[in-house]
Amino acid sequence: MNWLMSTLGSSIGKKLMMALTGLGFIGFLTAHLAGNLTLYGGSEAFNAYAEKLHTLGPLLTLMELGLIAFAITHISTGILLFIQNRNARPVRYARDERAGGRTWSSVTMPYTGFIILVFVVFHLLNFSFVDKTNTTIFEIVSSAFARPLYVAVYVSVMIVVALHARHGFWSALQTLGANHPKYMPTLMVLSLVFSLMVGLGFGLLPIYIALRV
Ligand code: HEM
Repeated sequence: MNWLMSTLGSSIGKKLMMALTGLGFIGFLTAHLAGNLTLYGGSEAFNAYAEKLHTLGPLLTLMELGLIAFAITHISTGILLFIQNRNARPVRYARDERAGGRTWSSVTMPYTGFIILVFVVFHLLNFSFVDKTNTTIFEIVSSAFARPLYVAVYVSVMIVVALHARHGFWSALQTLGANHPKYMPTLMVLSLVFSLMVGLGFGLLPIYIALRV
């Protein structure tokens, strides 16, 4: 427990926590997107995927508990870093000296993170914590995206998720040591590819379902 307190107490320890938990979310998003792509296969394919996922039983519960622990760590450490950075820098820099500089994604990280948190609560209330006795998960998703407001919310939030993922992916790899100038262009391309995959992969699904209903 002592090592945890001293790690969280230092700036680099906090950044390390953010990087490791952030990479965990990148893994989750990739797996979630791969599973959700079965929506393109229609009702049978998506319901079969969801059923298979739930047959994992205790393993799924373990992964869900892991996700919750990662979320608590990521959010609380993020808030601590945000406060620490604000207090350390009462006068804002005219120019940011961090490698990679200030980008739209980097500056908006705390705000995009907050929007994602609110979205995840909304998302779970709609798709996870619902009565599934007389319906299927495909019907739940289809009737949600039959409402234009839901499509608009999901598409907008997927742009926010893509922005957060773009800087998060790049920043996590930097923290873990991939900060040699030689690797910088490759990391930039990788983070852009990942954010496009997340933005377009998730963002096009509600539109496809809405047009097909
Ligand atoms: C178009 C985009 C998305 C669709 C259609 C979608 C669909 C779903 C569905 C149907 C479930 C319930 C699965 C089940 O209980 O069988 C679910 C769970 C979940 N989704 Fe999404 N999702 C989308 C985007 C996202 C994004 C961007 C995030 C995170 C930022 C996310 C986070 C979660 C989480 C944390 C769960 C709970 C997982 C679990 O309890 O095992 N989803 N999603």
